[in-house]
Amino acid sequence: MTTVNLTQTTLGQALASLQTRGLDRLDAQLLLLHLLDKPVRQRGWLLSHDDEPLPPVLAMSLETLLQRRLAGEPLAYLTGHKEFFGLDLAVDDRVLVPRPDTETLVNWALERLDSRQRVLDLGTGSGAIALALKASQPTLSVQATDFSPAALAVAAANAQRLKLHVSFHQGAWFGALPEPEARFDCIVSNPPYIAELDPHLASLKFEPAPALSSGPDGLRDLRQIISQAPGYLTPGGWLLLEHGYDQAQAVRHLLSAAGFMQVQSRRDLAGIERCSGGQFNPSINKHSTMTHPIEERLTHLEVKASFAEDLLDKLDQIITRQQDQIDRLTREVQWLSQQAPPDAAAAPRNLRDDLPPHY
Ligand SMILES: C[S@@+](CC[C@H](N)C(=O)[O-])C[C@H]1O[C@@H](n2cnc3c(N)ncnc32)[C@H](O)[C@@H]1O
Repeated sequence: MTTVNLTQTTLGQALASLQTRGLDRLDAQLLLLHLLDKPVRQRGWLLSHDDEPLPPVLAMSLETLLQRRLAGEPLAYLTGHKEFFGLDLAVDDRVLVPRPDTETLVNWALERLDSRQRVLDLGTGSGAIALALKASQPTLSVQATDFSPAALAVAAANAQRLKLHVSFHQGAWFGALPEPEARFDCIVSNPPYIAELDPHLASLKFEPAPALSSGPDGLRDLRQIISQAPGYLTPGGWLLLEHGYDQAQAVRHLLSAAGFMQVQSRRDLAGIERCSGGQFNPSINKHSTMTHPIEERLTHLEVKASFAEDLLDKLDQIITRQQDQIDRLTREVQWLSQQAPPDAAAAPRNLRDDLPPHY
């Protein structure tokens, strides 16, 4: 590979070299600002100082960062920072890099929450959602959980640096809560939702695998959260979930089947249905003490029907794949039989016919 010398260059030339070697303009600017120890918002400064020399001592570090970025490592891991909902979050490879799309979920939760209400963020990672909610509405009582102690260490450090009070708990979904009888006015979550064999996972190899994939169809964790959430919501409380670009319908279905009311979805910045949610209605949700036995039975059957539908979809896909394979093999056999010499069907020859005479 041709390398452009990053020593003895001006900042403008270094920027151009980074772009020539494959970085997009924004990434190149943010890497340079990071090395120069300047805040992200000073991109304009780079332009007005483009004839200043790149300090030679930084050239080697810039080369290393460039190689890591070209190998696919997220920019946020290289700079150690990611801006989310106006907050500067410290991130590293212990946590998922917070995505701008997740701000849709934060905005939705803020619309639903009044001051002083209780909110729970399940699978908090860097603390992005929980901290954004607390920063926007300081009177909220915010709790957050994660299965990964390493992720919680990042989240707690962010909370401390940003001086935002959030209570963090380690464990699997609702099992992390220290008070099992706790009830929340809103539960938010951006759980793992990528199917285990999804080819997109390959391009996310630098981020923690448990933050990404969720069973064969990507819905395992969403199902679990939806089925357990009614036991932790106040009457009228909301469950708001982020999910994959093609999962809105399935998640709405699961929410309705679990008895949630006002089930709806929200679009992300790209116009994709990215979040779905519903309101807990104790007279319908199956965990309610007021649930009528027939309604409860109905909800139970609906949940079962939804799982059965999912299963049938999957069986359908397997059958189609098998049928494709049978068709392909049949075509191969036909082709091979056409290639055989015309006397191939004749009686098998004595092997000795092929051997030299002295045998
Ligand atoms: C997609 S990441 C979301 C992180 C963060 N909320 C965000 O939006 O940037 C999912 C998070 O769920 C956590 N997680 C995965 N399985 C879990 C489980 N069974 N119980 C609790 N947290 C879990 C992962 O450790 C990860 O931090």
